[in-house]
Amino acid sequence: LRVGVIFGGKSGEHEVSILSAKSVIENLNPLLYEILPIGITKEGMWHTGIGAYTALGTEPPKQLLQQTNHSGSESMITFGPAPTLTSATAEAIDVVIPVLHGPYGEDGTVQGLFELLNIPYVGAGVLASAVGMDKAMMKAVFAQAGLPQCKYVTFLRSRFDKSPEILLDEIEETLGYPCFVKPANMGSSVGISKAKDRTSLKAAIQNAAKYDRKLIVEEAVDAREIEVAVLGNDEPRTSVPGEIISSSEFYDYNAKYNDGKSTLMIPADLTQEQTETVRHMAKIAFQAIDGSGLSRVDFFLERKSGKFLINEINTFPGFTIYSMYPKLWEATGIPYDKLLDELIRLALE
Ligand code: DAL
Ligand code: MG
Repeated sequence: LRVGVIFGGKSGEHEVSILSAKSVIENLNPLLYEILPIGITKEGMWHTGIGAYTALGTEPPKQLLQQTNHSGSESMITFGPAPTLTSATAEAIDVVIPVLHGPYGEDGTVQGLFELLNIPYVGAGVLASAVGMDKAMMKAVFAQAGLPQCKYVTFLRSRFDKSPEILLDEIEETLGYPCFVKPANMGSSVGISKAKDRTSLKAAIQNAAKYDRKLIVEEAVDAREIEVAVLGNDEPRTSVPGEIISSSEFYDYNAKYNDGKSTLMIPADLTQEQTETVRHMAKIAFQAIDGSGLSRVDFFLERKSGKFLINEINTFPGFTIYSMYPKLWEATGIPYDKLLDELIRLALE
């Protein structure tokens, strides 16, 4: 089977994607798959072959250097997605793994391209990807599915620009402090900050507005962070829940990837009943967005009420060997390489 592995991309999670894809490539069974790497630069240029790595300023995984086929050793450079993929299809690419996080990768745009080109791909389709990326849309869908969430306010950047004081009043009345300000479409906590008063709220909105025209402010809940992995298409399975023990005030980009102090507790220390509840909620969330393939669903377990609130769904969660998603499946009985086999199988189903 010829597998295209796409990584990098134009989003703020470019580097994370390269790390995720490296683990993916190193763990795809060489007896089953021939790998075609496809790298996207931060500017949006697509490169195939080993040259993709040089173009992205990083080292290729050893696995690829050992692969003797021409696509692995050569570098083909094109200037956009369509020519790259159409020439790859001509060489009979069987399935694509879009190991992309964030906008222009996890949001349905690239998935739309695969649909147009008739290339099977791993993970969520156009709609689920788009809903999963837009926090405001995601929350509306979760509310409709009856999933409890924290309180939030969503608005367009233009509204803040026009009448900031009225909006700040509204946020203070609805949510109070502290609260979290987020761009609606982003991942890995990029552009998110915590506001403790009106001044920091204003600054947080201005910061988040650099990333998106739609913003969301959420109440801060005193909670444990519990995550569940979902795998499957029409009959999704859920993993044991895991917990993030964060090193910083919240699980921000730095805590996620740089300081190495946050730890994952797998399985999370929960009662049997809590475990069943959160797994069930994860499945509901996955089906609510019409997910397929995979998703990681993130929850708050509120300390005060003991209730689970859904935080978000990630349709292409971090996928390094250290990441929560594959670790949750490992703990549930599916090791990393078998997880890839299963995802490819689901993509071709
Ligand atoms: N957006 C990052 C990669 C995650 O959810 O794991
Ligand atoms: Mg996310």
